[in-house]
Amino acid sequence: MTRAIRIEPSILAADFVNMEAELQRIATADAVHVDVMDNHFVPNLTFGPQMVTRVQAVSPVPLDVHLMITDADRWAPGYAELGAFSVTFHAEASADPLALAAALRERGARAGIAVKPATPIDEIVAHLDAYDQILVMTIEPGFGGQSFMDDMLAKIAAVRSAIDAAGAGTWLQVDGGISTATIARAAAAGADTFVAGTSVYGAPDPAAAIAALRDAAAAA
Ligand code: DX5
Ligand code: ZN
Repeated sequence: MTRAIRIEPSILAADFVNMEAELQRIATADAVHVDVMDNHFVPNLTFGPQMVTRVQAVSPVPLDVHLMITDADRWAPGYAELGAFSVTFHAEASADPLALAAALRERGARAGIAVKPATPIDEIVAHLDAYDQILVMTIEPGFGGQSFMDDMLAKIAAVRSAIDAAGAGTWLQVDGGISTATIARAAAAGADTFVAGTSVYGAPDPAAAIAALRDAAAAA
C-alpha cells in the first residue's frame, strides 16, 4: 500500500511521573497521542491543559490531543492555543462541530473529530472539508488495554470510501487495541493514522515496537 502511515503512541500507557523521559522513548513516532479525560464524558480521569502545556514544551514529536471531555466547544480551543499540532474532540460532546473545527484551525491546529463505536459517521462525511482528521474509535473510550473491535472495520472502510470519493486529504485515525496483531486489519480497511498505547509502552523497547507497527501496517 502506498498510503502514508503514521504511528502515534499514547502516553496513557506511559509512566506519568517520568513523562519527559517517556516522551524521549518515542522520538521515532510521528506524533504523541495525548488522552485528556474528565471523568464525565468517560469514567476515567487523566490531566488537563496544565499538563499538556508541559508535554508540548518538552515533547520531541508533535502533539495529537484526544479530548474525551464534555463541552468540547468551551475547552478544545485552549489546546490549540497552547500549541498542539492536532486537536480532536468527540462528535458526541460538541453542540456545533463545524464551528468548533473552524475555531481549532483559526488557532493553528489541525481539527479532528472522533466517534464512539455506536455513533454514525454520516454527518461527518457530509462535511469532510471541515476536518483534517477523523478518529474512528475501535474501543469504547476511557481505558487503555482493551481489545480491538473488529466490527469497526466496516465503519473505517466507509470513512475511507468517503474520503477517497471526495478526493480529500483527511487523515483516518484509529484508536484502541492497536497492536502488531490488529494493525494490518485496520490499515487494510483504510486507516492511515494509528494510536497505540499498551503495545508501545508495554513493550521493552518502544522504538522497536513503533518500527514493528509501521512494518505491519505498510505490509497490509
Ligand atoms: C482510550 C484512549 C486510547 C488508549 C488506547 O480511551 O483513547 O488512546 O490510550 O490504549 P490501547 O492502545 O492500550 O488500546
Ligand atoms: Zn485516545
